[in-house]
Formats: sequence, structure tokens, C-alpha cells
Amino acid sequence: MTERIDPALPKVELHLHFEGAAPPAFIRGLAREKNLDISRIFTEDGGYAYRDFWHFLDVYEAATTTLQTPADFARLTTAVLEDRAQDGVIYAETFLSPDFCGGGDVGAWKEYLHAIREAATQAEQTLGIILRGIITPIRHFGPERSRPIAICAAETAGEFITGFGIAGDEKQFHPRDFTWAFDCAREAGLRLTAHAGEWGGPDSVRDALDHLRPERIGHGVRAIEDPSLVDRLAEDRIVLEVCPGSNVFLGIYPSFGAHPVAQFRDRGVRVTLSTDDPPFFHTTLTREYAALSQAFGWTEDDFRAINLDAARAAFCDEGTRNRIIQTIEGRA
Ligand code: ADE
Ligand code: ZN
Repeated sequence: MTERIDPALPKVELHLHFEGAAPPAFIRGLAREKNLDISRIFTEDGGYAYRDFWHFLDVYEAATTTLQTPADFARLTTAVLEDRAQDGVIYAETFLSPDFCGGGDVGAWKEYLHAIREAATQAEQTLGIILRGIITPIRHFGPERSRPIAICAAETAGEFITGFGIAGDEKQFHPRDFTWAFDCAREAGLRLTAHAGEWGGPDSVRDALDHLRPERIGHGVRAIEDPSLVDRLAEDRIVLEVCPGSNVFLGIYPSFGAHPVAQFRDRGVRVTLSTDDPPFFHTTLTREYAALSQAFGWTEDDFRAINLDAARAAFCDEGTRNRIIQTIEGRA
């Protein structure tokens, strides 16, 4: 049975790449203003054009070349939060990469962060959406570059920068190469997540858990190929940030029905739902819910339960957590 999903259902999104959430029209507009020719990254009808995940990473990085100043990132913040609020998102965590905001220099990063926070505060006041930031080095940029990024994270850890993670090409380097960065972030009090088990198999998830000791895993879906690892995820209460539409669009699974998200839930693993890079995958959380409802018969009650789990796993202070839980439960 398929249920119509009310777009206003309050949603929590924990896995969202900031530049990956940029509407293509916004990036095209910036390119025009700055006289940058990045037409190769767009389709004729104005979407992002790429062949596969690795080409996606290339197109993603080309799009970021238009984001050159703190003011550009302030405008990006507003554009991203307007879209998410429209989708019923009340609380979002986004991956922020100082690599794209001043190249890992702490002073420059603080200026970008200030601009992002100002725009986020404005959006919270006008749209009611709360944003928190998770700093992420980019794995294929290499371990050396992850160190200044971890220092940027440690220097700005606090109420807004609450987490640290790693994104990028999972096929390059090994989690052990990033232990210095993760230890630095952990010592600064940041909560930890790591992309794994998207393009790598169960070993990649196990290695990320062993070496980086995150409490959440970005994607993690390929863990389904090893039942003992699924048991470990359930026993250790590791939370998966699952992005089914991203996985289907990029070809990891042929359809929502073939996606393992329902199996993880059945096996007692805590799953949350996110969009990853929504305009790249032509998705929104409301569309994800509709597709999952069609594939697995999930109802609004299932999505409410998943959003409560996401709120419990959110990298935020307890006051914020209680506020978002009350909104999901319809008490606020
Ligand atoms: N950066 C942006 N989207 C990503 C994804 N799905 N996996 C790894 N790195 C990313
Ligand atoms: Zn991701």
C-alpha cells in the first residue's frame, strides 16, 4: 500500500553536502556573474551533467569554483535552507569543507563560517529551520590536507560546528591515514561520522569503525553484504545516514525496492534518511519518502519514527534536540 506523504511532515536530515545541495540555477548565476565558463557541467535543460560517481565528484568540484567569497557562501546558505525548509526539513546537518572555504587556512575559514552562520541564523528566524555543521576533509585530497582541515574544525568547534566527518572517493587511501585528523577532532569535542560502505564493501565500513571510531556512518549500506557486520552495527548502536535515492541514482542498487534500507531496519540497525546532494540526484526528502512508501509500504508513522531516531542521533545540544523532538511529535 502506498501512502501519500504530506510534504509538511517535519523532517530531520543528517547527511547533506553543502555545495552538493546548491541548486544548479544558483551555480549558473554565480558563474555568469564571475564570467566563469563551466557550461560543461550542465545539461541542456539546466541540471548537473555527469556520467558516474567519479565524474560527479569532478563536476561537484567544478561547481565549487564559483563559490569564491564568504558572501557567496552566505547566499548558498540561504538558497539551500530555503529549499530544505520547503521540503519540511526542520533540522539539518550539513557537511562543510574548509577546502572550498579558504583552502584550509584557519583565519579565512573563520570568515566563511561567520558568513554562513549569519545566513543560517536569519533562515532560522524566518523559516524555522535549524542548521548545524559537520566539517569534512575530502578523502581523495589526501591525508596531508586532512590535517589543516581538522585544525579548522578544532578551532571552531562549538554550538554550530558540532561534528567532523570524511567524504570523497572511498576507493582512495585507507581510514588509518586519517586517524590523526579524527583524533584531533575528537579531542576538540566534536562528534564523528564517516562515509563508508557506499563504493567500498563491508571491509571499508569495518576499517572506518576500527580506525576512526565514528558513532555514525555515512551510507554504510554495503555492510548488508556481511551479516556479522550488520550485527555489530546493531549491537554498537551505530547510526546509518542512508541516502537511498543517491544510491539508486548512482547505480549502486537498481531500484528503491532492491535497496537494503528495510533489511537494516528489520535487523535492528538504526537508520536515518537523507538526500546527500539533492539537485544532483533530482530528489527531496519528500520524494525519498514517497519512493520508500511505494517500495516497502512505509507509512507516515514509519517516517515519524525514523525522524525521531535521527533527532536522537543529531549532533546538537540537548535543548535543540528536545525542540526538534517536540516538533516531530506534534507537541510544538
Ligand atoms: N561528496 C558529495 N557527495 C558524496 C557522496 N555521495 N559520497 C562521497 N562523497 C561525496
Ligand atoms: Zn555523502
